[in-house]
Order: sequence, then structure tokens, then C-alpha cells
Amino acid sequence: MTKLTIVGVGPGSPDYITTAARKAVQKAQVVIGAKRSLNLFRGDIKGEMLTLTGKNVDELLKYAQDSAAKGKAVVLLSAGDPGFSGLLGSVLSRAYGKNVEVNVIPGVSAIQVCAARLGMCWEDAVLFTFHNGVTAKQKEALVEAVKAGKDVFLLPETKTFTPSNIAVFLVNNGIDKATRVAVCENLTLGNERIVESTLEEASKQAFSSMCVMVIHS
Ligand SMILES: C[S@@+](CC[C@H](N)C(=O)[O-])C[C@H]1O[C@@H](n2cnc3c(N)ncnc32)[C@H](O)[C@@H]1O
Repeated sequence: MTKLTIVGVGPGSPDYITTAARKAVQKAQVVIGAKRSLNLFRGDIKGEMLTLTGKNVDELLKYAQDSAAKGKAVVLLSAGDPGFSGLLGSVLSRAYGKNVEVNVIPGVSAIQVCAARLGMCWEDAVLFTFHNGVTAKQKEALVEAVKAGKDVFLLPETKTFTPSNIAVFLVNNGIDKATRVAVCENLTLGNERIVESTLEEASKQAFSSMCVMVIHS
């Protein structure tokens, strides 16, 4: 059985990288990640470094598995936490992932930072990600969660289901336009911004694509 290590790199600031993540990267012979993630470990990467893009995910995940099969220490860098809309899902969903034992090093998720910034407990919240696409079933579940009075944390889709699209969608589906929402942009980065408003106000605003949206109960 081959072994791949998937490392959560946190929300973007080097301050949120764990010591465990850094140690794993320092020991790796192959490190694969998006440019933004690789940049966080510039001084730590001793092995081969490969940049993940939207177009080469299949190719590089296969390369990661093959390298691990040859006995190399391979690390995949995943933004935030690998288990929430991250690379863990990408590895597990690929057929060839079945022969791979995955070692996950957790990272601080954007969801966690968002909850912290807003001073919210999130054990009873409902989480959604639309980052990998928007389905009618998911949209229906979102309306149901809001109607059920749950706090909702979601990762919007960057083009067709942005926070303002979501606000319009919810109001069109019977949610009170005065419902309080928050959009937390670029968390932990120099341009971090927390916007607290209502569905009505949010429907008219533009937000950074790097954001977490909260719909308050
Ligand atoms: C592929 S998902 C990865 C989520 C990640 N696994 C996590 O746990 O945070 C990327 C999306 O996460 C959100 N995101 C990631 N980093 C963020 C940050 N620093 N501030 C706000 N949102 C962020 C954005 O919605 C972005 O489009």
C-alpha cells in the first residue's frame, strides 16, 4: 500500500501554518500544490516541487500516487483543511486512490477563521460548499437549512452562485430579505474584510471570490 500525505496549509497567512505541516513538507521528496500554497513553504521545500492548476489535477494526482508507489515521501498541499472542499475529496474520488493510504495533516479551515472572526459557535451550524459546482439538490437543501433556523456557513461558487446571487436566490425562495448575513473575505490576509449586512443589502454588493458567507439563524 502506498502512502500519500495531504497537508492542510490553512487560510493563507503563514501564521496559520501548523508545525506538523511544516515538518511534513521539509521531509517530503515530492511536494505538489497550487502556487499560492507552495509559496507559503518556499524555504522548506527540499524535494521536487510541482504546481497544481485547474487543468493538471488528474495528471499530478496520478504522479503523486506513482511516486509514492516508488517509495518516495509525497506531500499534497491543500488550502485550509484537506477534508472540507479540499484535496482529500479529490484523492478519494479517483479510482486509483483505492490503492493509496492517505495520511491527513489537518489545517485551519476558512470556515473556522470565519466563525472565529464573527465570534460564533459552529457546532450546530450547517455547512455547504458550492465550490465544485451548484446542484438543484444542494440549493434546495440550503433553503431548507435556512428555513429550519440553522446558522449556515457556505463557500460560494465564484461565477454563478456568488454571495449576491445567493442572496437573490434565497429571497426569491421565501427567505425574509431582512435576514442577517456576513461575508468574510480574504481571511488572515492583508486585505481581509468582514461585511455584515442583510440579504437585501448583500444582493446589491460585489464581494471577493475568496470568501465565506454566513446566513444567520
Ligand atoms: C477549494 S475551497 C478550499 C476550502 C479549504 N479546504 C478550507 O478548508 O478552507 C476554496 C474556497 O474556500 C474559501 N476560502 C479559502 N481561503 C479563504 C480565505 N482566506 N478567506 C476566505 N475564504 C477562503 C473561498 O470560498 C475559496 O473559493
